[in-house]
Formats: sequence, C-alpha cells, structure tokens
Amino acid sequence: MAASGAILVVDDDPAICVVVGEALRRQGHKVKTAASIRERTALMESFAPDVLITDVMLPDGDGLDGVAQIIERNPDLNVIILSAQNTLNTAIRATEKGAFEYLPKPFDLNELTRAVADALGTRQSAEEMDGEGGLPHDELPLVGRSPAMQEVYRTIARVLSNDLSILVLGESGTGKELVAEAIHSLGQRRTKPFIAINMAAIPRELIEAELFGYEKGAFTGAHARTAGKFEQAQGGTLFLDEIGDMPMEAQTRLLRVLQSGEVTTVGGSKPVRVNVRIIAATNKHLPQLIEEGRFRQDLYYRLNVVPIALPPLRERREDVILLARHFLDRAAQEGLPRKALADDAAQLLMAWHWPGNVRELQNMMQRLAVLSRENIITAEMLRNMLPMDAVPADHAAPPEQLVHAVRDWAKRQLGIGLGQPQRALHEDLLAVIEPVLLEEVLSSVDGNQIRAAGLLGINRNTLRKKLTDYGLDPLQLRIGD
Ligand SMILES: Nc1ncnc2c1ncn2[C@@H]1O[C@H](COP(=O)(O)OP(=O)(O)OP(=O)(O)O)[C@@H](O)[C@H]1O
Ligand SMILES: [Mg+2]
Repeated sequence: MAASGAILVVDDDPAICVVVGEALRRQGHKVKTAASIRERTALMESFAPDVLITDVMLPDGDGLDGVAQIIERNPDLNVIILSAQNTLNTAIRATEKGAFEYLPKPFDLNELTRAVADALGTRQSAEEMDGEGGLPHDELPLVGRSPAMQEVYRTIARVLSNDLSILVLGESGTGKELVAEAIHSLGQRRTKPFIAINMAAIPRELIEAELFGYEKGAFTGAHARTAGKFEQAQGGTLFLDEIGDMPMEAQTRLLRVLQSGEVTTVGGSKPVRVNVRIIAATNKHLPQLIEEGRFRQDLYYRLNVVPIALPPLRERREDVILLARHFLDRAAQEGLPRKALADDAAQLLMAWHWPGNVRELQNMMQRLAVLSRENIITAEMLRNMLPMDAVPADHAAPPEQLVHAVRDWAKRQLGIGLGQPQRALHEDLLAVIEPVLLEEVLSSVDGNQIRAAGLLGINRNTLRKKLTDYGLDPLQLRIGD
C-alpha cells in the first residue's frame, strides 16, 4: 500500500544503517546508506533521495549543519533527524532547520517507517486510520524501544548478512520465536523457507524422524520416504525451539549433521547435503543441563555462536505501554472495536510484574478488546477482569538495585569467610536488612506499632521483640515528635 521512494540513511553506527536499511527495503524503498557528512553530500548528488534520514553526531561534524541548505536546494525532500542526544535542544534545532520529523534514539522501527511513509505523503491521515482502524499492514514485527531491546535489535542487525548460528534465550513469552522469524524475514535467506520444530511438542521417539526424515519402511507406519525438517528448510532457516528438551541421542545426531552439513534419513544410507541457518531457542539454563548430563557441551558451543538474550518484560517496563497499544491497535485492525488506555490503567500495567511476559500482555489486551464494552480501558476494569491486585506489583520482583546490593554483599561475605568456618549468611543478611525495613515502616506510620505490625504482617509482640533485639528505639522513629 505504501508508495516506494528513494531513501538515504546517514548514521555512523553500521547496525542502525543495516536495520533501518533492511526494514525500508523490505517495504519496497530504494535505500542507500552513508556514515559521514562527506558521504552524505556525495550521495545527495548521485542518488537524489526523496527522504533523508540523518543522525546528528557524525564523525566529520554536526549532521544538522547543512540540512537547511539541503532542503533549500531540494524543496521536495523531507528530512528525518535521528539523535541520541534526546535533548529538547536537538529537537528544537531540528525543527528550525526545517526537518520534517525528529526521532530521539533509541527509536522504534515502526515509528521510523511510519515517519518515512508520512514523509512520502502516502500515509493516511489519523482520521482515516481511525476509520479503518489500523496500523500500516507492512508493520515491523518487534515492538519496544527500551535499551535492552535496542541491544537485541543491534545484534539482529549484525547477523542478517551472515549465517552464524543463533541461540535465543529468554523466559516463556518474551518473543523468542518472533525474533527467529524476524531474523529470517529480514535476512538474506528471506525468499527461502522458515521451518520451525518444537522439541517439547513432539514425542521423543519421533524427533529424529521429524528432523532428518525417514525412508519407506524405516519403522511401522513409514509408508513413503519423507523429507525431514532439515531438507524442508533447504536454503532457508531451521528454528529449533525448546532445544533444551531434545533427547541426548537426537542431540548426538544433530551435532553430526551440523558438523558435516549432511543429513541421512532414518533407515537411509545416502546422505543429502543441506544448507540451512540454525536458530535455536530455549527458556532453560543450558549450562545447568550440561552439568546434569542432559545437554551436550559440544552441541551447546555449536549452537551458541551468537546468543540473543530477551529480557523479561518486568525488566523493560518502558515497553509495556507501547506493546499494550500495539496489541490494541492490532485487535482494531482485525475488526474489533478500537480501545484506548486510561492513564490509571497504563500505570497499573506498568506496575504489574508480567510473569507471562509479552504473551500475557497480548492475551490481556485481546481479552479486553473483545470483552469490554467501554472504549476506554480503566484501571478498575483491569482489576475486575484480572488478578492484578491479588499481588501488589513488584512483590514478586524486588527492585533490581536491591538484588544487586544483596548479591554484592553475599560475594563480599563469602570472600571474607574463605577458609574460615561456615558463617550463618542468611542470619547475617536478615540482621542487615530487617532493621532498615522496620525503621522505614515505623517512621511511615509515625511510630504506631500496631499499624506497623499490620503492614509488616507480623504480630505486635514479635515487632516489639525485634525492636529490642536490634536496639531500635520506637520513640526515636517517630517523625515530628
Ligand atoms: N517485542 C514484541 N513485539 C510485539 N509482539 C511481541 C513481542 N515479543 C513477543 N511478542 C508476541 O508475544 C507472543 C509470544 O511471543 P513468542 O511466541 O515469540 O515467545 P517465546 O519466547 O517463543 O515464548 P515460549 O518460550 O513460551 O515459546 C507472540 O504472539 C509474539 O508475537
Ligand atoms: Mg516459543
């Protein structure tokens, strides 16, 4: 639907040039990239782009310098400024120079492609979009602009033009399969098949037949020679999902295939050369499985050439609202009524610890799109429909700094204790942390021990005893006394 144009992308970070370039090419645009102002100037002449996307901090100067002149000389050209400086000042300068759009880094790829469509004058107005209920159809798969996701995008960018094996790691529902699909569909194998196989979903005794294929008569029920996933993926990508659940014998055989580049079917003898890119994924801790003798170390090294670790959603809360809106938009695109998020609902979503990660958020938004009768989703609706208030947010996940502090403390204690008799670390930790907690809670209720005990979930006598043990004087904890 979007008309195509010629686009010049200028950024000294090759990862950004690759990701943005591939995303735009995929939408049918002609793209050239440059890494400096000098290259930009040369390409402005020879390439004559419709849209210029340029970074500000370039190795040979300020990317905003010269933009006004470029626009003056090419009145039909639209300029999109990218900048990591994220300051109001940059935004203002960009606007003053006549830039069409300013996107602070880290930016969301969807936002950028939308800005490009806008710049080419092909995007429908917001009203038209509301009527049709939709984002552009050629939207990019991965939503999120947290630093952790930017790191993921960078890695994806680096692997698009090669065939290195990739191991995608992350909790359930963090988007491992989506990342594998994105690498395939943006990469050089995109015109060839993407074949997925889930080790946890296939009976153990059938895994080898599924992966490598089988000959007629190889086992009961093998009526004809059947190609395995390796052969089906020929020239493309094979996604080995839940690799941690692969039986040991199958692992041995897989390793042999990866080393030789040839598969032999079950019951067959003639090897077939295969050319596939391997992307494996797991939510298990493979080093642990190796220690337990349930995963081959050599296979692990073979698969883990480029690891991509997807952070749990609770560690990138800034992406929650973006994702929630994305799923609501998608529901609207599928014909469901368009819903918006009230501020209090957004806050509640941000606070939730998302044990099921993006999948949980997606399911929640789909349910809301289907079930709620109002057009605005409020916190109250979330509370009514969902077990959100059952657990106060963050209860399950203490703040990261606290976790780090405890970890450092434990390491230090262990360092001190080396060669000495075992110390009661657990007691020590409690003795450090508990008085801080008691002080904090007591002063928040002006020293009222009954209320403090209630908040702490212990009885009043226990609280008194603890205060005495720690030598805390409740009277001194009262504020304003
Ligand atoms: N960054 C993202 N942007 C948009 N959608 C996402 C994102 N991450 C995940 N999703 C969506 O969330 C759902 C779960 O993602 P996916 O199936 O890739 O997770 P997974 O890590 O493979 O989970 P599991 O370990 O349970 O198989 C999918 O519908 C996917 O499209
Ligand atoms: Mg999966």
